Amino acid sequence: MKKKKKIIISNRLPIQIERKKEKLIIKPSAGGLATGLNSAFDTDEILWVGWPGIVPKDEEEREKIVELLKPMNLLPVFLSKDEIRNFYEGYSNEVLWPICHYQPSYIHFDREYWSTYVMVNKKFCEAALSIDEPSDFIWVHDYQLMLLPQLLRSENQELNIGYFHHIPFPSEELFMNIPQRKELVEGLLGADLIGFHTFADSQNFLNACKKILHVSSGHNQLKYKDRHIFIESFPMGIDFDKFVEVSSQPKIQSIASQFRSHFPDQKIIIAVDRLDYSKGILERLRAFLTFLEKYPEWHTKVVLYMLIVPSRDKVSQYKKLKDEINRKVSEINSIYGNLSWTPVLYFYKSLPFEELVGLYIASDICMITSTRDGMNLVSKEYIASKTLSKGVLILSEFAGASKELVDALIINPYNRTETADSIYQALKMPPEEIQERTDANIQIIQKFNVQHWVQLFTNRLAETKAIQRDEWAR
Ligand code: G6P
Repeated sequence: MKKKKKIIISNRLPIQIERKKEKLIIKPSAGGLATGLNSAFDTDEILWVGWPGIVPKDEEEREKIVELLKPMNLLPVFLSKDEIRNFYEGYSNEVLWPICHYQPSYIHFDREYWSTYVMVNKKFCEAALSIDEPSDFIWVHDYQLMLLPQLLRSENQELNIGYFHHIPFPSEELFMNIPQRKELVEGLLGADLIGFHTFADSQNFLNACKKILHVSSGHNQLKYKDRHIFIESFPMGIDFDKFVEVSSQPKIQSIASQFRSHFPDQKIIIAVDRLDYSKGILERLRAFLTFLEKYPEWHTKVVLYMLIVPSRDKVSQYKKLKDEINRKVSEINSIYGNLSWTPVLYFYKSLPFEELVGLYIASDICMITSTRDGMNLVSKEYIASKTLSKGVLILSEFAGASKELVDALIINPYNRTETADSIYQALKMPPEEIQERTDANIQIIQKFNVQHWVQLFTNRLAETKAIQRDEWAR
């Protein structure tokens, strides 16, 4: 018998399509969800529903995209320009994203946002239900699709529906500010299992449900409209083996040494992020400035190499942030730089996977300064690339990863002096201590990899369904 496929639904597919000189080009998508999840499945095992990142210019191109993606088991959901504006940039990234990242002052509501968010969630629901291959497992991902679990449930009570929230879930006090708070939590409660990266996020969600819906709950479950729904934490991992394998290849080692050779007398600090205010990029630059003020003996001996991957550049907060980063980088470089030393090297682009691993290998320190982050997979990728070389991870206490990678130097990115001192501590750290800390973190990342994460979530979803069946039988 043909094995049933699992259906994965996320706003973005793991690839995006670009049109260059009338040709359609397939590129990998940026961000933790796409990169992390994509390596966890065999493409034969799943069918992935999501937006391909392009507005087709006509019906012919639309068909072409559908055909192009079919062999990869990807089903595109197309969004119009208005839907991109109001659903993606608008409700998802100007309302839900800032609230979930504790930045309520960045919220911007527009009349069209909510109605389009509802409409697009319905569009995804129709696409998922149009699949004629039988499936008993639907896994919905992330805040852009918070209404989808309930939309699917109302079409079919029997479905096994899981939902995973890849970003933080805010404290209930903050969540209460959203006008559509009831619709959003009810939307999620259509799932059988709702997952978060951390225990704190799962408790925040439970508290929001209790307050909004006046239901009672256990520490990992609640009963709503006669259904038991489980709410638990599943910290996401990475494809550890892939990083170990790639980082040991001679070709990648040589990319790393070539990169290193540009900085023969300097320590290299790297920082890799999507352009986002939640990543604490300005906080990092301010701390680096403080470091240069406080520790002049390190002048000319260290560089901060920042790779910022372009993201959401039509949203005004992101445009503003980009300008502020440019200003801050040139301020630092003009105060401290000279003909032979540029303290901050900043690139606004994405790198191919192999070059990125080369960068991880070559660097001495990796700085993650998120002011809020669901998990932050870069911190894990860095450590996984360090099985043959050494490096210190400086990690914000506000990233989900800090709950697991406790052997990193954990910092509060809002505390400039503390962060500056952690750079100093990392630079002076004895090689044995670096090795010990790296090894301890490697053990965690190796064991709790992305395959483990998928298994755990999948098994738990099957279990919750069984518990619900028992309940009905009683
Ligand atoms: C984060 C979110 C993902 C999102 C990614 C990239 O990782 O959790 O849902 O896809 O950022 O953002 P974008 O807006 O480009 O899809």
